[in-house]
This record gives sequence, C-alpha cells and structure tokens, in this order.
Amino acid sequence: MKVLVVGGGGREHAVIRKLRENKDITEIYALPGNGGIAADAKCEPIAATDIAGIAAFAVEHEIDYAVVTPDDPLVLGCVDALEEKGIPCFGPRANAAIIEGSKVFSKKLMKKYGIPTARYETFDNLEAALAYLNTAPMPTVIKADGLALGKGVIIAQTLEEARTAVTDMMQNGRFGKSGEHVVIEEYLEGPEVSVLSFTDGKTVKPMVSSMDHKRAGDNDTGLNTGGMGTVAPNPYYTESVADRCMEEIFLPTIKAMNAEGRPFKGCLYFGLMITKDGPKVIEYNCRFGDPETQVVLPLLESDLFTIMRAVTDGRLAETEVEFSDRHACCVILASRGYPESYQKGYPLAIPETVRDKVYVAGAKLQNGQLLTSGGRVVGCTAVADTLPEAIRDAYEIAGQVTFENAYCRRDIGARALQAAQEE
Ligand code: AMP
Ligand code: GLY
Repeated sequence: MKVLVVGGGGREHAVIRKLRENKDITEIYALPGNGGIAADAKCEPIAATDIAGIAAFAVEHEIDYAVVTPDDPLVLGCVDALEEKGIPCFGPRANAAIIEGSKVFSKKLMKKYGIPTARYETFDNLEAALAYLNTAPMPTVIKADGLALGKGVIIAQTLEEARTAVTDMMQNGRFGKSGEHVVIEEYLEGPEVSVLSFTDGKTVKPMVSSMDHKRAGDNDTGLNTGGMGTVAPNPYYTESVADRCMEEIFLPTIKAMNAEGRPFKGCLYFGLMITKDGPKVIEYNCRFGDPETQVVLPLLESDLFTIMRAVTDGRLAETEVEFSDRHACCVILASRGYPESYQKGYPLAIPETVRDKVYVAGAKLQNGQLLTSGGRVVGCTAVADTLPEAIRDAYEIAGQVTFENAYCRRDIGARALQAAQEE
C-alpha cells in the first residue's frame, strides 16, 4: 500500500518510522517532509497547507491512505479534500478540527457540555475586554482565538500586562486575524499532562501520558516554544486521575462533538491541568503533539497502521492499542536563539549508531549533506526500563548529534523524576 503523510517535522518523522513497521506498506511519501525524513520516506516539496496540491498529488500517485498530522492542514480541510477524492484518511475533518482551530468554539463546547475547564469570557470588542479586566483576578490568561502556532497565549501577572496583551491582540494585530477574538480565562495551577488519544468518534483509547517542557530555558524559564523535550509516562497521571479524565473529560468530549454534528476521528490531544479540584482541560489539539509523539509512539507495542485504519473505519473498539510499561525521554536540540531569531544552514551530523533514535525536525539535504533549517533541529529519544535511565540515554544520544550553535535544556525529565520520587 502507498501511504501519504502530510507534514514535515519531528512528529511526522516519528509517525513515519512507526508506520514503516507495517509490512503492507510498500511506499511512504511525505509532503513536504524534510532532509532527515528523506531517509525514511519519499519527500516532495508540496507545502502542508497546499490542500489542492496535496489532493492532486495523492490522486496522481494512487495513494491508498493518507495521514494528516499538522494543525493547519487539518483546520483548512485537508482530510475533507482527500476524502472527496476517495482517499481514506487518518485525521479529523475541518468541522471537527475546529476544536483546536477556535478556542472560542472549544470553550463554548466545554461550557455547554459541563466539561471541566478554566472559567472564561470571550470578547470581540476591545472596550468590553478592557472593562472586564478591571474586575478579573490576577494572574489572568489571555488567548487569541485561532491557531497562533502555540504562541497566542499570554499569562498576565498584573492588570497592566493584561491590558497591554489584550490591546496588542485586538487593536494592534499581534497574532494577526486570530487575535480579533480573545478568550480571557481563569489562571489554573497544577501539573500539566498531555494525553493523546485515538478515537473513531465512538470509542476513545488514550495513549500513554506524557509531559512536555514548553519553556526555552532550564527550570521553566524563558519564552514559550513548540516544546523542548518530553517524557512518558507522566507520573502525575495516576490511575485515579486517568479514570476521572475518562469519565469527566474524554468520553463527554467525544459525545459533545457527536451531538454538535462534528464527529471527531483521528488523534485528539487533551492538554490537561491536574488542579486541586481535579483534572481540567487547558486546551484541545486536533492532532498528535510535537514532541509528545516522539516519546509516545516509541512505547506503542501495537501496530500503528492497523490502529489508524481502524479509526478511519470505526472499528477502534475491537482493535488492540497496547503500550509498553517502559519509559521514554526526548531531548530537543535547537538552534541557539530559538524561539526568536537563529541561524540556519549549519552542517548536521547524526552518527549511524543513533540514527534510529533521532527524529529530524528542521534540516534540509543539499548535495547529500544535512543542513539545519529550523529552530528545533532534532529530537533524541531513548526508551529504557526506568525514567532515570531514559533521561540519561536521551542526553547521551543528544551528545552525539552535532551542529554549530546547538543548545538543549539540561533538565528534561527532572520534574517528572522529582514527582515520581515523591509518590
Ligand atoms: P496553550 O497554547 O493553550 O497550550 O497554552 C500554552 C500554555 O499556557 C499551557 O501549556 C499552559 O502552561 C499555559 N496555560 C494556558 N491556559 C492556562 C490557564 N488557564 N491557567 C494556567 N496556565 C495556562
Ligand atoms: N507540544 C505541544 C503541542 O504539540 O501542541
């Protein structure tokens, strides 16, 4: 079978590696892929947002199955366009991807169906938003409505900061169109847990939990990034928390989407905060997380392609989704300066001995040489029997990958380790 994967980051590299374990797959194409993915799939320079180009490519190359993983093509209707051409897909249609595409939509959904989340108000008028802030407790959280590449969230400590953030978004066009509508919500406290789940719109099968490290610097300092590293499982996601999440969040969300006529099929990512009042939803993503996927899929023992097709066909209930009880850690090597400005084009060397543990996020091939081409360059994943070993091994692998101006956080997994020891 010929499979198409839309996207070109570390997450897609992890998905492609896992898909390759299935012997029915004869060919994998990545659009656009990247220089590192090119070792595992045929990459073609069609942008993940070029929906018409992707659909035409899929028809021309007689693709049997497509996997759409990034947020923007999903929100733009990539799955709808491929299905119109008769190509079965893994991923939600646009009318369900809105659960990530619009924070106003997802907050209203949670309110209507009683799904626990931070209290909030939505605004499309600057004066009303500023007036509301005068009465809001600080800190407060301000979110741009649409996809803002994970950067549309501001935690304001003071009224002054909150007023500036709202004005920047609503009046000064920061975050572009996605800032015309804002959500102002209650600040929640507690450890964060990422739970990616497979769902066919009827059954939900959560994957092993994970913990992201979003800030650029050690000890959660510096700017928010796409994610600087991950560990799985997340020690804060105990069995009793998992049971509550299933009852109070996962199943109600699937039912709510069905009731709204927006059945969700694919990977639904629950960004959760474990507060003292129980688990609450911080955000939904309509896709696999990046770099959560780089620790979750290496722990998947069942066949990914079989699961994906079961999701498409509505057969998830009878399909095995088993995870190993080992531990995984992924350390991201980024270009110094990320997430702000950074240099690209440096030679990237990944020794053959660790190649299968390195997921390439930002590199291109030029005359057979890998050159860095992004802020996050590679993710180095180790799987081991214990968390300390997984952390040690991931850093050991990261130490073997070289490019100029590389940096990584030194404390990936430290918080999880501390939590696990406190148990
Ligand atoms: P998001 O883009 O929605 O994932 O938000 C980015 C980060 O902001 C989250 O991972 C949280 O750390 C933080 N955050 C978002 N909403 C809240 C909230 N209501 N209370 C506290 N922190 C939040
Ligand atoms: N790692 C967070 C995300 O994928 O949104």
